[in-house]
Parts: sequence; C-alpha cells; structure tokens
Amino acid sequence: MSKIIIINGPNLNLLGVREKGIYGDQDFQSYFEALRKQYAGVTLSYFQSNHEGAIIDKIHEVGFSADGIVLNAGAYTHTSLAIADAIAAVTAPVIEVHISNVYAREPFRHHSYLAKNCKGVICGIGLDGYRLAVESFLYSTQTS
Ligand code: DQA
Repeated sequence: MSKIIIINGPNLNLLGVREKGIYGDQDFQSYFEALRKQYAGVTLSYFQSNHEGAIIDKIHEVGFSADGIVLNAGAYTHTSLAIADAIAAVTAPVIEVHISNVYAREPFRHHSYLAKNCKGVICGIGLDGYRLAVESFLYSTQTS
C-alpha cells in the first residue's frame, strides 16, 4: 500500500478562514477527510506546522519511508534554503503544491527555493492540486 503524506506549512491551518478570495472557504481538515475516503487504498497522512524546524523534522522522519510527500510550505517556499536542503537530503519524491497561482501574485511569490529539489510543482488550481499530486505519485508507482 502506498504511503503518501501531505505537509502544510505556515498559516495553512487557517484555510477556510484566511483570505477566502484567494484560498477558498473550505477548511483543510474536511478536504483531507474526503481525500482519505476517495483514496481508501492509500495510507494517506497529514501534518501541518507553522514552524520551519518542525517541517524539516517531519521531512526527515518520513522522507526515507514514504512513497511521496506533497508539500505546501506556504511562505517558506519563497524563503527557506533549509527546507530546500531537507528535500534534497531525503529519498522520497516531493511535489510542491500551491493553492493559488503564485505567478499571478506579488513578484516575491514567483521564486521557489524548493522547486529545484522537487519532482514537480502544481499551483493555481485550488485544493484539487493536493489530489492531483497524490494521483501523480500513484500513477508513477503503477508505471515504474
Ligand atoms: C501558498 C502561496 C504562498 O505564497 C503563500 O505564502 C501561502 C500559500 C498557496 O498555497 O497558494 O501561504 O503556498
């Protein structure tokens, strides 16, 4: 059974409350429960932290055993060399996800320190981006 973890970074605990015009009105917990039901054959887990070090610790913890990590590092995407190094250090493939289209927003959101170390990037299609990342990991497991 595939093991996939979704890691959300800072302020993503406020989905459904925070800047609804950008991030929508669904909270992540209810989205995640629906995703879990949809992918009942997958060991799907979820971790969220507002702290850079906690995100790094989680990547180290799961990064040698998971089949895939779906990572929305929030604003750390645009600032964190340490998370970029953590992604490079582990063996699990990482897909970077953003709910919003970061390229249609402020210039400081156009650069990701993480993308270079990721398998791919999905952005701008709302919460469905997480599902597509999961789907992509499952597809590559089946075809490899
Ligand atoms: C985000 C985009 C980031 O620029 C921002 O800091 C976030 C959320 C997104 O999912 O669209 O917190 O990663």
